[in-house]
Amino acid sequence: MSEKQLAGEKAVEFIQDGMIVGLGTGSTADFATRKIGERIHNGLNIKAVATSTATAQLATALNIPIVDLNEVDKIDVTIDGADEVDVTYTGIKGGGGALFFEKMVASISQKNIWVVDASKYVEQIGKFPLPVEVSPFVYAHIYNQFQDKGMKPQMRKQQKKYYLTDSGNYIIDLHLNTIKESKEMASWLNAIPGVITHGLFINTVDLLVIGNGSTTRIME
Ligand code: 5RP
Repeated sequence: MSEKQLAGEKAVEFIQDGMIVGLGTGSTADFATRKIGERIHNGLNIKAVATSTATAQLATALNIPIVDLNEVDKIDVTIDGADEVDVTYTGIKGGGGALFFEKMVASISQKNIWVVDASKYVEQIGKFPLPVEVSPFVYAHIYNQFQDKGMKPQMRKQQKKYYLTDSGNYIIDLHLNTIKESKEMASWLNAIPGVITHGLFINTVDLLVIGNGSTTRIME
């Protein structure tokens, strides 16, 4: 079993009957979603909120009841993946382009569980390009601002067109190599008009499940 599968499936042990569950996006979160599907087949009774169209489609195929975020008062537990996470549990998400919905769902969740393979638990985040979701109305100006600051921006593309998020926005990936002042960086990005959100997640994680070899490491 891969480290991603080990981590994803382990996290599902924290799901109990009656919960509203946030379903993350990406290959590791998908393992959790599939396991939840299995448990539903065996009688588990939950409702779920999906963080992307792709996850909603997978969940529906697995007979997991999906509800709209606005129809629930709170989410009990969300299980999501990440691209990098450090010892302070500051992380980068959005490699799969779902960062906006992922951040919204995380903000409504009482408990956030991240599931990663061991390679993503790093001393210093930033090697993974930081995704910034931007409005198509003003993207070129934001891109130029990043360029002028030497942040090595790259428009994310798919089949030679700009990648479109589920909310109809573009993504600019910043190839920073290292991010030391993540709080300052997050505040600066949040203040740029036209930035919808960015992939820096700070003070989000309650529990980190790391797939490590043939076992898992759980960190609170
Ligand atoms: C999607 C994400 C994913 O959770 C992240 O990219 C990790 O993906 P994977 O589990 O496939 O490595 O943030 O926007």
